[in-house]
Amino acid sequence: MHIGVPAETRAHETRVAATPETVKKYVSQGHRVTIQSGAGTGASFPDEAFSAVGAEIVDAATAFGADLVLKVQSPTEAELPHLKRGSVLVGMLDPFNADNAAKLATAGVTAFALEAAPRTTRAQSLDVLSSQANIAGYKAVLLAADLYPRFMPMLMTAAGTVKAARVLILGAGVAGLQAIATAKRLGAVIEASDVRPAVKEQIESLGAKFLDVPYETDEEREAAQGVGGYARPMPPSWLQRQSALVHERAKQADIVITTALIPGRPAPTLISVETVQAMKPGSVLIDLAAGRGPEYEGQRGGNCPLTVADKIVTRNGVQIVGFTNLASMVAADASSLYARNLLDFLKLIINKEGALNIDLADDIVAATLLARDGEVTRKA
Ligand code: NAI
Repeated sequence: MHIGVPAETRAHETRVAATPETVKKYVSQGHRVTIQSGAGTGASFPDEAFSAVGAEIVDAATAFGADLVLKVQSPTEAELPHLKRGSVLVGMLDPFNADNAAKLATAGVTAFALEAAPRTTRAQSLDVLSSQANIAGYKAVLLAADLYPRFMPMLMTAAGTVKAARVLILGAGVAGLQAIATAKRLGAVIEASDVRPAVKEQIESLGAKFLDVPYETDEEREAAQGVGGYARPMPPSWLQRQSALVHERAKQADIVITTALIPGRPAPTLISVETVQAMKPGSVLIDLAAGRGPEYEGQRGGNCPLTVADKIVTRNGVQIVGFTNLASMVAADASSLYARNLLDFLKLIINKEGALNIDLADDIVAATLLARDGEVTRKA
């Protein structure tokens, strides 16, 4: 089969969907692999590294014209016409974006959105949300440490003692837990919170304090259990109590990292405008939900309404970081992990003879299938 890997063209995207390691495997399985010239440059994989393992270096049209196209992000309007009708497209295709799914269906491709894979043990090796969120959580702490005008660890020096930074982490899923672990290694004092009660132990085992907002009704308790490992929107009563506690803790914090997401819905508001006004000048807020929150003053914020996607803004002396693609800032490792996720997914849709075999009885294949035969197959 011809497997094509085009270069990513969306802003701030430096990752690539295949690495020399995965290309070598595809070639050894008998596939023809074409890589668009320069596709790996942003992730430190030069063309020569791909050709050394048997890939052909080609132009965009050839890579897009493959039977199976591997992408990081969904193709842009300009890229869509290059896809061959009847070909298979695999990537992070934004499964909750109905418009985009319709466009892929109209392009006549069989499209798989890997973000939609179930959170099951069997799906772990192809879980792109986890592989990329892990990197984002790590990078969020490094960005914060860089912007924060003080030390992270406690230091006792001849010139006096420096206090450890206080870090508040809201949302303790994959990104939040990695942020806790990374901040801990840098010597910070950490508090963290989540709606799901299951994370208390995980937070504490990483050496952070769990900020508890006890449930007061059965409705709150039930919502907090989430669905399929994900959070559901919490009732307003609980959110109000959470907001009051977060307000108090954010006032004391030096660094706040928010990672709270609810699949298919706007991200919850956790740091209000009033909370930013109450925060210490010099503190840093890294909002990993940037661009995915509710609309505020004509643009979508994140877990904080003041966040501006892909910008650093300063409000009340607080630097608010809204970068939307932190994984791309660690492009080499992000690409390596993502490319391995793809390699594992392709095992489910390519048989031993190297031919396509789309088996909808497989729960991962069925869950990720976004479009086929001109129809959108997955409800947004
Ligand atoms: P996510 O990226 O969708 O959300 C991030 C975090 O925000 C979640 O922990 C969520 O509970 C939290 N959140 C949502 N609303 C909030 C609010 N109002 N206040 C505070 N926190 C809020 O989630 P992610 O990181 O993709 O995964 C969530 C969980 O799924 C993981 O922690 C894990 O337990 C489970 N999981 C299971 C896997 C498996 O079994 N194979 C693989 C990966 C994750």
